[in-house]
Amino acid sequence: MAQQQGMAALAAEKGVLFGSTLTRGQADESAEMRRLARQEMGAIVPGFEFKWPTLRPGPWEFDFSGAEAMLRLAEEQGQKTRGHALVWHGALPGWFGDGPADAMGMRTLLRHHIDTVARRYAGRIHSWDVVNEPVEPWDGRQDGLRDSPFLRSMGTDYIDLSFRWAAEADPQARLVLNEYGVEMATAEQEARRTALLRLVEGMLRRRVPLHAIGIQAHLAAARQHEFEAEVLRRFIRRIAALGLDCYITELDVTDRGLPPDIATRDAAVAHTYRVFLDAALAEPSVKAVILWGISDRYTWMNDSRFARREDGLPTRPHPFDADFRPKPAWDAIREAFRAASAR
Ligand code: G3I
Repeated sequence: MAQQQGMAALAAEKGVLFGSTLTRGQADESAEMRRLARQEMGAIVPGFEFKWPTLRPGPWEFDFSGAEAMLRLAEEQGQKTRGHALVWHGALPGWFGDGPADAMGMRTLLRHHIDTVARRYAGRIHSWDVVNEPVEPWDGRQDGLRDSPFLRSMGTDYIDLSFRWAAEADPQARLVLNEYGVEMATAEQEARRTALLRLVEGMLRRRVPLHAIGIQAHLAAARQHEFEAEVLRRFIRRIAALGLDCYITELDVTDRGLPPDIATRDAAVAHTYRVFLDAALAEPSVKAVILWGISDRYTWMNDSRFARREDGLPTRPHPFDADFRPKPAWDAIREAFRAASAR
């Protein structure tokens, strides 16, 4: 049987960059994982290697070995690399603590980090998640922004400045503001979308260099009833009307809350992938679809109290199972790309 066209090639025919997160450990450990990545991905997002805990083992030292290894892997395979993430409260090394309490101290630390990392890899990074997850209405701020260590020390300026520093360091990379919890038709996620749009409109008014919004798309098959295609599409069109592209940056579908039967779970997960991608790909400003894992063997979800199954069974969120066999979700993703119009 003729070798089936890789997903990256199928997506590229529609003008969409397709890929997945991958870590150095996964690539080193599994020849099957390396084969799958080589065959199916047009882009790789290193899962840890560009995060502070890996890059910054100490306050005065950088360890670029992981980042170099992942960039070499991608470049040897003709794949693009997404950098994730220059500024994120969610993965900070122990020595960081709450970070410098004063604005100048935090500004110096952030600017040094962004300048060192983004300048070192200038020209080799397709796009940077410059600031990851800046929104959190539950923190009670009028602007709906997250009360992160960066904001506490520098105020909201940390966002604009991070993008300006990244643009100076790597003028070629597309600069992305990345956020979760903006996909579903719920009041809580509407508040998140509102806060994100307000932030982005302000950044553009201040001429901050910003090229795309990342919608993480960590979905749940058991909450499919909360999804309305038109709500997502209207949000993507609002972003496009601001002149920005949209990247789906961390797509996966937990089967938490579904019955234990594997066929039932796999079918529901596949349906969620298909319905979501049909809606997202209907919008021409969607230029990338990146999975947050391609095989159940390497899923973050079993380690997450929010995503793992409450019955303790291993989750099955990705399009290949733990033995790298394709699941209905892989067919669903392929069909969504086949049905999509070219950008
Ligand atoms: O590798 C070490 C291991 O040596 C150590 O024994 C173990 C216990 O401390 O930790 C291991 O590192 C963990 C790593 O995952 C590998 O499992 C880190 O503690 C843990 O924090 C890390 O979690 C990752 C998380 O981001 C924080 O970086 C998840 O795998 C990863 O999927 C998750 O991805 C995030 C995106 O970056 C942003 N959007 C949400 C998404 C899901 O949370």
